[in-house]
Amino acid sequence: MTERFLGEACPPDLLDDGERLSVDELKARQLAGLQASVRAAYENVPHYRAALDGVGFKPGELRELSDLGRLPFTDKQDLRDNYPFGMFAVPREEVVRVHASSGTTGRPTVVGYTRRDLDNWADLMARSIRAAGGRAGDVCHIAYGYGLFTGGLGAHYGAERLGCTVVPVSGGMTGRQVDLIRDFGARIIMVTPSYFLAIVDEMIARGIDPRETSLEIGLFGAEPWTEQMRTEVESKTGVHAVDIYGLSEVMGPGVAQECVETKDGLHIWEDHFYPEIIDPVTGEVLPDGEEGELVFTTLTKQAFPVLRYRTRDLTRLLPGTARPAMRRMEKITGRTDDMMIVRGVNVFPTQIEEQLLLVEGLTPHYLCILTRPNRLDELTVQVEAAPDLPASSYASAGATLSGRIKERIGVTAAVEVLPPHALERSLGKAKRIRDDRER
Ligand code: DLL
Repeated sequence: MTERFLGEACPPDLLDDGERLSVDELKARQLAGLQASVRAAYENVPHYRAALDGVGFKPGELRELSDLGRLPFTDKQDLRDNYPFGMFAVPREEVVRVHASSGTTGRPTVVGYTRRDLDNWADLMARSIRAAGGRAGDVCHIAYGYGLFTGGLGAHYGAERLGCTVVPVSGGMTGRQVDLIRDFGARIIMVTPSYFLAIVDEMIARGIDPRETSLEIGLFGAEPWTEQMRTEVESKTGVHAVDIYGLSEVMGPGVAQECVETKDGLHIWEDHFYPEIIDPVTGEVLPDGEEGELVFTTLTKQAFPVLRYRTRDLTRLLPGTARPAMRRMEKITGRTDDMMIVRGVNVFPTQIEEQLLLVEGLTPHYLCILTRPNRLDELTVQVEAAPDLPASSYASAGATLSGRIKERIGVTAAVEVLPPHALERSLGKAKRIRDDRER
């Protein structure tokens, strides 16, 4: 792997204005953004007006950042109740694009962007790709899904803005992904980590050594993944694996990004998004460093401002490193709604992933299955064996994992080791939990 820019800090002359702000300048900008967003939301979105009136808060009372704590939270249900365009803060004619969730668990949530919103998004995605080590002139292969999902188009316009040669492949047709990476010489790949593994498997199946491709950087996000997964991917492929975070309600990909030179969690682009961590049960705001639910207020969005939006994602806020003025968030542990409670113990799929990657012969293709055979919840972990693990060793690898899960996480899990390719591959976000308890 050629170390072109990697391992080094981004040259200061490549940083944009927002990345150069001092802490004081950042705070001043955040306060101004917050005041403008709260006012715009109050004046233009009936939901926010009613919610703020409900707690007796007038936009003019927002004088410092800490006043934010007096505002009510917004959640997914509020967006659903205002389907499709009820949360827009500008006339529909000024909305130049919409994105939407798939709506598999209820009404889809719809988000909108003005031209300036799209412009800011492209800037922030360009900033993110640059922080990951990407540069103008790189070939950037985008395998996030294009369409209503924000991943593909969000990455696309950011990579163009940075000056990359963009290959807009979207997800699927894994064989062709491998051809295009090889033929076009992509340096950067943007894809979910789980789908990247499927692409890597396809390379291996074709006799291509994943360490010998042109790829040097992967921006992996849209689903949780662990440090162990980073180690696995980097050692298998030689690609620098960096984390990218975002959600449609707040913008899309590019809300927070890990810097390649530190790989120590994701810098939140705080000049556009104000983060808080709350206790998911009581709603109390927690100090930096404590784990809880991540909440965002947008500071610059026009069409779809959100005030104290509850992401359901669990993490902690840490001080800035590679971008000293902006705080980092630790890798996401999981979502509050992905928490499995097995006989009273809280477990996230990421904890299972951490353990299974430490067992020789097992791969990060796995699924957690919840059942309730005798009125008690039981967890079964299905995990694929590596191709070189003989079938005669499946039982012992499974026993090792089961022992680790018991010892490290404190729950009893049955482990089924399956032959390679037994589990369905996702083209985008992997499904890590199957809940059979109601069946
Ligand atoms: O997944 C946006 C995105 C696209 C981010 C591509 C990164 C790359 P949604 O479909 O709205 O948007 O899903 C948002 O996905 O609340 C998290 O639960 C999860 N998520 C996104 N990025 C990460 C990450 C896009 N890096 C939801 N780590 C979020 C863990 C992530 N979870």
